[in-house]
Amino acid sequence: MGNGIAHVFAQHGFQVTLIDVQEAQLQKALATIGKNLDRQVAKGTLTEAQKSDTLNNIRTSTTVAEGVKNADLVVEAATENVTLKLDIFKQMDASAPEHCILATNTSSISITRIAAVTKRPSKVIGMHFMNPVPVMKLVEIIHGYATDAAVGETITAISKQLGKVPCTVNDYPGFIANRILMPMINEAIISLFEGVAGVEEIDTVMKLGMAHPMGPLQLADFIGLDVCLSILNVLHEGFGNPKYAPCPLLVNMVTAGKLGAKSGEGFYTYTAGSKDLVVSSSFKK
Ligand SMILES: NC(=O)c1ccc[n+]([C@@H]2O[C@H](COP(=O)([O-])OP(=O)(O)OC[C@H]3O[C@@H](n4cnc5c(N)ncnc54)[C@H](O)[C@@H]3O)[C@@H](O)[C@H]2O)c1
Repeated sequence: MGNGIAHVFAQHGFQVTLIDVQEAQLQKALATIGKNLDRQVAKGTLTEAQKSDTLNNIRTSTTVAEGVKNADLVVEAATENVTLKLDIFKQMDASAPEHCILATNTSSISITRIAAVTKRPSKVIGMHFMNPVPVMKLVEIIHGYATDAAVGETITAISKQLGKVPCTVNDYPGFIANRILMPMINEAIISLFEGVAGVEEIDTVMKLGMAHPMGPLQLADFIGLDVCLSILNVLHEGFGNPKYAPCPLLVNMVTAGKLGAKSGEGFYTYTAGSKDLVVSSSFKK
């Protein structure tokens, strides 16, 4: 997500510092940005000059303190882990200029909780981009309990400058995107688990019947089944409502290391270089 966020900011003229603890990840991110820009040039949506301007707008750093010291806005997109994010926000709060807005791309962690570890909770906000960032139009902007209205207005204006469509929501578990998406994915898995229909049938009904570009099981594989499980747990614990309880089949698949596209198998199997959708042998009739 970090490379996609850096890409759209740099493409729209912002000076970006891309930060990661691993130099290898930074090099991988720059290569990915380069490849995605090439695709835009090939499609005719970007010129070669705009591509090189975009790349020239990106610097890299392996330390948070160094990377944020002159920033007006930071968009944190590190691994989805509460302890890690709280630690990063403490570091950013200590090193970023006083006026700097600290945003997070978290999919499920409370903005209010993150803001509470800083000395500037009114300047902490959710800026939730969708994957793939250069393609997806939505930015879900999440106001924490203490977020200043003016900070929300600034982030809304910046999202528009990036060519995105911002939608502002309040800070409750799953915000809006995942509060609605994850129960749908869970229900698709429960339907499979109960034998109501097979993988292909469930995805076809939702693709052709509801005009979704991708069925819920394929989408779950794309997001990562571990990520889906962790967000469902956040909803389940956060609301204390059994309707969010993750399906036992999802729990079993994650325990077995079947995490979707990134592990090579979930509801479908994935082979490098092939775009064919092949149902996993575990679900073949
Ligand atoms: N993947 C998605 O579809 C998606 C969509 C929307 C939001 N998000 C959110 O975006 C964030 C990132 O997701 P991702 O899928 O890109 O995760 P990822 O685990 O693929 O990448 C996270 C990166 O953070 C780096 N990192 C770890 N600790 C760090 C630290 N202390 N300082 C700096 N960098 C550090 C890692 O090296 C890694 O390169 C998460 O909060 C996730 O919930 C993800």
